[in-house]
Amino acid sequence: MTQNSTRFPEGFLWGGATAANQLEGAYKEGGKGLNLADVLPGGKIRLEILSKPGFDYEIDHSKYHYPNHEGIDFYHRYKEDIALFAEMGFKVFRMSIAWSRIFPNGDELSPNEEGLAFYDRVFDELLKHGIEPVVTISHYETPLHLIKEYGAWKNRKLVEYFERYARTLFTRYKDKVKYWMTFNEINGATHFPLFGLGFSASSEEARLQESFQGLHHQFVASSLAVKACHEIIPDSKIGCMLVYAPVYSFDSNPENIMHAIREEQIFNYYCGDVQVRGEYPAFAKRYWEENGIELDIQEGDLQLIKENPVDYIGFSYYMSRTEKKQKNEVESSSGNIIGGVKNPFLKSSSWGWEIDPTGLRVSLNNLYNRYRVPLFIVENGLGAYDKVETDGSIIDDYRIDYLRDHIEAMGEAIKDGVDLMGYTPWGCIDLVSASTGELSKRYGFIYVDKHDDGSGTLERSRKKSFYWYKDVIATNGETL
Ligand code: BG6
Repeated sequence: MTQNSTRFPEGFLWGGATAANQLEGAYKEGGKGLNLADVLPGGKIRLEILSKPGFDYEIDHSKYHYPNHEGIDFYHRYKEDIALFAEMGFKVFRMSIAWSRIFPNGDELSPNEEGLAFYDRVFDELLKHGIEPVVTISHYETPLHLIKEYGAWKNRKLVEYFERYARTLFTRYKDKVKYWMTFNEINGATHFPLFGLGFSASSEEARLQESFQGLHHQFVASSLAVKACHEIIPDSKIGCMLVYAPVYSFDSNPENIMHAIREEQIFNYYCGDVQVRGEYPAFAKRYWEENGIELDIQEGDLQLIKENPVDYIGFSYYMSRTEKKQKNEVESSSGNIIGGVKNPFLKSSSWGWEIDPTGLRVSLNNLYNRYRVPLFIVENGLGAYDKVETDGSIIDDYRIDYLRDHIEAMGEAIKDGVDLMGYTPWGCIDLVSASTGELSKRYGFIYVDKHDDGSGTLERSRKKSFYWYKDVIATNGETL
C-alpha cells in the first residue's frame, strides 16, 4: 500500500457501475418484455454479430446459449449485493433501468407496474444503506418489439416512446434518484449501431448514413429527456455518457497527426459537442459530405438541442487508441468498440485492450478543457481471468494495480484543474461481458460463481481488491 499525495474533493462520488441487462437476469419475470440483450448469444459469435450487418434478432437455443437471460440474478439477489456495496463504502451505485421492464414492448401508453415496483425496491435498498443511485436510462437494452416493428432508432417514432419512458421514470423516482444519464456510450453507435441504436446496419455501405441519422434521433430524444428531468426533478443532474479513448498519432508524421485529429473529432467529440455545447461541430459538415450522409433534421430540432444541454459528462475509459493513416505495415490492436494500431509503449489486457493510465489523465484534460462541465468517470476497469485458490480466496493484484494507477492519474488531473465528480469502476460485481457475453471476463471486486458454460452456484465472495477498494473509499483516495 502506498500513501499518496493526491487529494480528492470532499463528497467525491466513489462507487461502482453496472447495467441491467448484464446482471439482472429474470429476463421474463415481472412482466418484462424481451430486449436486445436477450437475443445476443454468448461467446465470440457475439462480437461477429455486433460488427456485421444483417442480424435477425431471433433466439435459437439449439445453436447458442444466452447468458443475459440469467445474468448474475441480481433481480433476486439485489439485497445481498447492495449490502456488499455498502460494506465497501460505496457513495453511489451506477445501474441502468431495463426499458422493457417498464414498457415491455416500448410503445405502450402506460407502464408495467411490476417493473416500476422492482426498481423502487432496489432504490429503497440503496438509500437505506446511504448509497445514491446513478441511473442510465438506456444501456444497450432497446425493447425487441421496437427493433422488429420499427427498425429501432432508424425510426423517429422512438423519440416519442423514449420521452414517455424517461418522463415515467422521472415522475416515479423523483424523490429517489438525482443523478441520471441518457444513452450509454452514445458515440459508440457509429461503429456498433446494434448496441446503442438497436439495429444492425442493412449493409456496410449504409452503416454511416443509418447510424448518423439514428444518432440525430437520439440527440433529440436526449434533449427532451434533459428538459423533462429539469422540469420534474429541479435538483437533479442529468448527463450524457460517452465512450472516450484519446486518439494518439503513431508518430510525428504530420499526415498521421492530422489523421488522428480527424478520428478524435468524429469519434470523441461529435456527440459531446451536440449534447454539451448544444450544436453540431464545425467539422461535421465536411464529414457528412465526404461520407454521403444526409441527415433529416426537422424544424425545431436544433433549437431544442441548443436549449437543453446536459449538466455533466459521464464517460467510460478503458484505453487509449493509436492511429496511423496507412495501417498496412503495423500491427493492429483490439479495443472497447474501436481499436487502432499497436502502441509500442503499452501493455495489453488478456483481451488485447491497451492499458494506459496516463491516457485517463489525457482524457480528463481534453474533455474538461473543451467543455468546462463536471466530469464523471462512470466506467473503468480491467477485464481479467480470476483464479479461486483452494481456500476460496481470489488474489487479484493485477486488478488492484490497474485501478491504483488509474486513480493516481485522476488525482493528477484534479491537480491539473479538472472538475471530477466521481468514479464508478465497471462491473464492481462480476457480470456478463457486453462484447463477448463471457462470464470469465471479470471486472468485479465481488466474485460471482458463474461460468461461460452456464454452470455455477451464483454464490458471491470478496476478492482481495474488495478490501483494497474499501480502504481507498474510507480514506477518500489517500491510501492506494
Ligand atoms: C462498456 C459498456 O463499453 O464497456 C459496458 O458500457 C461493458 O456495458 C464495458 O460491459 C466492458 O466491456 P466488455 O465487453 O468487457 O463487457
